[in-house]
Amino acid sequence: MPTPFVRAVIRDTELPPFDPLNRRAAELRAQGHHVISLGQAVPFFPPPASAVSAAREAVGTPAVNVYATDPGLPSLRAALADRLTAAVGSTVTAADLLITAGANHAFTLVVTTLVDPGDEVILPAPYFTNHQMAIAAAGATPIEAPVADRSTFAVRWGDIEPHLTARTKAVVLCNPSNPTGAPVDRADGERIVSELARRDVLVVSDETYMQLVFEGAHWSAAAPAEWRRNVVVIGTFSKSFGMMGWRVGFVLADASLCEQAVKVQDAMIICAPVISQVAAEAAVRDDWNYPLSFHGDFRRRRRIVQEGLGRIRRLAWTPTRGGLFAFTRVEGCDDSTALSNALLDQAHVVTIPGAAFGQAGEGYLRLSYGYATPDDLAEATRRLAQFFTD
Ligand SMILES: Cc1ncc(COP(=O)(O)O)c(C=O)c1O
Repeated sequence: MPTPFVRAVIRDTELPPFDPLNRRAAELRAQGHHVISLGQAVPFFPPPASAVSAAREAVGTPAVNVYATDPGLPSLRAALADRLTAAVGSTVTAADLLITAGANHAFTLVVTTLVDPGDEVILPAPYFTNHQMAIAAAGATPIEAPVADRSTFAVRWGDIEPHLTARTKAVVLCNPSNPTGAPVDRADGERIVSELARRDVLVVSDETYMQLVFEGAHWSAAAPAEWRRNVVVIGTFSKSFGMMGWRVGFVLADASLCEQAVKVQDAMIICAPVISQVAAEAAVRDDWNYPLSFHGDFRRRRRIVQEGLGRIRRLAWTPTRGGLFAFTRVEGCDDSTALSNALLDQAHVVTIPGAAFGQAGEGYLRLSYGYATPDDLAEATRRLAQFFTD
């Protein structure tokens, strides 16, 4: 029975399917089945040694037992500003950064700071489920803007423009995208940022996978010289550095916006976990190129999935340049949730139904190749082949 105290906007939102699928996978494993998960949006590698030893050294010291300043450790912000200046291609200062408890927290912090109830926020779709939820929870209206290019899922200005209204406050980019893996190409991104700047509309660009673009360069929404006018970038240590559980990420925005957002930061969490900030700083200083060292592994994993899916007539997927995902069309599928459940029960493979990422995702499955071993990836595609030919 839903409690009457819970706001309707929360009650009316369906729980993402991740937990029920993981619970069912755990039951099947307990029965002795070899379940392969292509569900988790996580990389296979642990944090760099520099981060782990910095945390080990810090754990007995008083500094990690007390609050840090709200925006984050000054030394981490300074080191990260230097790295991002080189990575993004625009000057970033420590004052343009807020350290958060991961990218999801960064996004919620930004939305809470910027969006009023009644505002509309455009989400190119398929979208990242948590973006939709954060916008709805803030009392704003998420507007699903289906991406027209169903082969590459590249987001273009033409996908966004028809959805602009007088109430549009922001457009969310997810670059590279969860769930599609599609990066935003430079020319498209520059056009989107400049057209929206002319209309005084914000761009909130979630670049969680910025260091996991393993072909070509990553284009950041903070790259254009005038980015400070309307761009906020979100980043995290979760995926690039295998630090999901450490809960540390960041907001990159003009210092004037950070000064306002820090009020919400103080109300929400005061500061990101200090020991995690210490670890993140070591990663930034000593191992900034750590994620790069895994690009070859990701290309190999992507090839295994590409070859495996390529043998299944009902599945169609165009590989992307980065991210961790294959977002595959399933011919004849109009209920991806039922399909995903059947795949788990019959083939013992966890996949995420495309419908979890908006209406535009129905008829698709998201397969993550970030975590399973290459052998398990090959085995999973064999099981899918059998499932779809039975
Ligand atoms: C696009 C995107 N943003 C944010 C997150 C959450 O990351 P974090 O662990 O930093 O909160 C994820 C995790 O899957 C993601 O894919």
